[in-house]
Amino acid sequence: MLIYGAGGHAKVVASILLASGVQVTGIFDDNWRHATLRGYDFLCDYNAGYFPAQPLVIAIGNNHDRRKVAEKISHSLGQAIHPSAMIDATTRVGPGIVIVHNAVIQADCRVGNHVIVNTAAIIDHDCIVGDFAHIGPGATLCGDVCVGECTLVGAGSVVLPGISIGKECVIGAGSIVVSDVPDYAKVAGNPARIIY
Ligand SMILES: CC(C)(COP(=O)(O)OP(=O)(O)OC[C@H]1O[C@@H](n2cnc3c(N)ncnc32)[C@H](O)[C@@H]1OP(=O)(O)O)[C@@H](O)C(=O)NCCC(=O)NCCS
Repeated sequence: MLIYGAGGHAKVVASILLASGVQVTGIFDDNWRHATLRGYDFLCDYNAGYFPAQPLVIAIGNNHDRRKVAEKISHSLGQAIHPSAMIDATTRVGPGIVIVHNAVIQADCRVGNHVIVNTAAIIDHDCIVGDFAHIGPGATLCGDVCVGECTLVGAGSVVLPGISIGKECVIGAGSIVVSDVPDYAKVAGNPARIIY
């Protein structure tokens, strides 16, 4: 497996792959001289000609940056799913997904491409999570929640059942989301309100 990104989130992805028994063949990073993920022999700028048969996971925590990279790569997409994560058999997850240690995704969810379900996050039944979203560490989506493309649900947040969150939103860490959130909104607090 190849990893694109060599910062903090990439360390987590490398840890997941190690625990899964998947060998990391190489790391790409646009700023590789400043990489903090170390210990791999092969570290350089992205090059579509390097290891073209190997799948790749984009290990960049920022949703917009991850989407930009996805638009330019030509490798096939892999997945990084830690063995401690629980994904119900009825749930579908997309290519490029990263599911971190102890995350749980319950029945009949649809989780899009390049989504991050971070450490110990919980996605309960029938949720829909759009491409490039990030469900932060310890966040909980109750049942029937929709999260739009490229939205960040901050660490430790709780989204109540049936709530719909638009695309490219930011839900502040520790928020309790009790009503729908429009596209591009940044909300925080309990109950979560638009901060600007
Ligand atoms: C919500 C958030 C994006 C706001 O960041 P920001 O745009 O830099 O905004 P500021 O820090 O200037 O805060 C703006 C206001 O919102 C408040 N605020 C910020 N984050 C808040 C939060 N999580 N809960 C409640 N209020 C919050 C600030 O106190 C400030 O209030 P004030 O105007 O009365 O002083 C950020 O604080 C946050 O929670 N990010 C989530 C990070 C995360 O969980 N990442 C997971 C990946 S590891």
